[in-house]
Amino acid sequence: MKNTPLVVSLLLLICAGAIFAKYAAPKVQIYSRAPGLFGKPNMLLCHASMFYPPELNITLLQDGGAMEGAHQTELAFEESWFYHLTEYASFTPQKEHKYSCQVSHQGETKTYHWGETKPGLKQD
Ligand SMILES: *[C@@H]1O[C@H](CO)[C@@H](O)[C@H](O)[C@H]1NC(C)=O
Repeated sequence: MKNTPLVVSLLLLICAGAIFAKYAAPKVQIYSRAPGLFGKPNMLLCHASMFYPPELNITLLQDGGAMEGAHQTELAFEESWFYHLTEYASFTPQKEHKYSCQVSHQGETKTYHWGETKPGLKQD
């Protein structure tokens, strides 16, 4: 059959699509560029990775409201075909505020809090 290579290629493409189309929940990390010190200018970053499909929303929050001046990196993918994305904003951590990152993917929204697992977070 003349078209065999074409048929095989198509079948491979379909199989590959089925593998890559698998849902994968994002791994999320929220961290500051420099060690978190109250009153010291810093940058808050929220990194989501290993997710699929590539539709995902990240929002950085201060006390539950969207942080001003937040930027997002381009959606990028790794060799593994999973996507990653980072949202970041300059901030000066204040003791009286709570910082978090809200990530929505596939209709599921989760909130990750900054500082809770950071023993380096010191008070002035
Ligand atoms: C991301 O936000 C937009 C605008 O609010 C919304 O239409 C879309 O459904 C959201 N996507 C996900 C994956 O939550």
